[in-house]
Amino acid sequence: DKRSFRHFMHKEIHEQPETVALWVARHLPEGALVALPLDESVYEGVERIQILACGTSRHAAQVGAHLLEQLAGLPTAVFYASEFRYAPPPLEPHTLTIGVTQSGETADTLAALAMEQDRRFLVADPAYAPRLLGITNRPESSLGRLVPHLLDIGAGIEVGVAATKTFLGQLLAFYGLALAFAERRGGTAHPLGGGRTPAQLRELVEQLRALPAVLQRLVDDHDRCCAELAHLFADTQDVIFLGRGINYPIAMEGALKLKEISYIHAEGYPAGEMKHGPIALLDARVPVVSIAVPGTVFEKVLSNAQEAKARDAQLIGVAPACPDTELFDVLLPLPEVDELLSPLLTVIPMQLLSYHIAAHRGLDVDQPRNLAKSVTVE
Ligand code: F6R
Repeated sequence: DKRSFRHFMHKEIHEQPETVALWVARHLPEGALVALPLDESVYEGVERIQILACGTSRHAAQVGAHLLEQLAGLPTAVFYASEFRYAPPPLEPHTLTIGVTQSGETADTLAALAMEQDRRFLVADPAYAPRLLGITNRPESSLGRLVPHLLDIGAGIEVGVAATKTFLGQLLAFYGLALAFAERRGGTAHPLGGGRTPAQLRELVEQLRALPAVLQRLVDDHDRCCAELAHLFADTQDVIFLGRGINYPIAMEGALKLKEISYIHAEGYPAGEMKHGPIALLDARVPVVSIAVPGTVFEKVLSNAQEAKARDAQLIGVAPACPDTELFDVLLPLPEVDELLSPLLTVIPMQLLSYHIAAHRGLDVDQPRNLAKSVTVE
């Protein structure tokens, strides 16, 4: 049922404030920092984390790694499942392996997890025993049968092939997990880097609780802005998405969304890498979408955007409205938010931009060519 929406993808983008509201109600109860339905053994003695995933799920994992490192001080590595399965890194002890797949059926992710489990079973030292956790929207899936511990993102059925609300659900699962680890690790700044104080963690949780209303306004506003922008991309062949830090994976996600449903070539880059090659691509025909959130890398991202402007690129900013962001030709304005929470907001214009561009081109948004909702082949 698409209700009044022309496409499921559009409907599912609009369902995201509700996805967050449900998650907040379930997992951020009054009087506790965070409550996840996980056994204590998932957290005990974990010293490092590796995450295996594909596509959009891998982008959620990259945001998750940033959170686990910066909030909980846990070293975290993210792998393409399809690469990991044929070239896994040397085994390390006390490692939690997380598989992220919204469908729970992605062949590469399942095979990588099974391989990791098998090779760890062969080691006699219990420090190397397999510890597997799955994050999915389908607890009844093959993933659910493979791993002993599961976080169900509970985003409801997603019909559009392009992942939108399940991506947001995966992000939320990682916020929960990073908070839970941070709390158990004392919530203090880790001596070797990363970590936040208990008061800072509580402040983050307060902002998460307030998020559904913020997100609702953002979805409505950016829906209008992106619909108006779509015609600018009528003849566009290439788009560059730039972000840094926790928003670098969101730039990657913006590019992936645009590629898969509008068939426009797009690249996501950490903005600081532009000068090492890709800047040669820029001219007036290549729009640049730049995610600039106040915090650790705000000025850096703005100066990277300035470099693109000097090459005549059309600049679209996902950034707060302020004097610093007047360099953008078009602004998709962001409300004030902690930088660590910003991916939950910055992903919305990524989704809406690609949706409206594809719809404007008259494409089959919900069933893009060559793609399927579950990729059950290698
Ligand atoms: C992008 C998309 C794909 C999937 C990828 C992994 O919108 O849908 O990139 O994210 O095929 O799928 P899951 O999460 O089911 O493992």
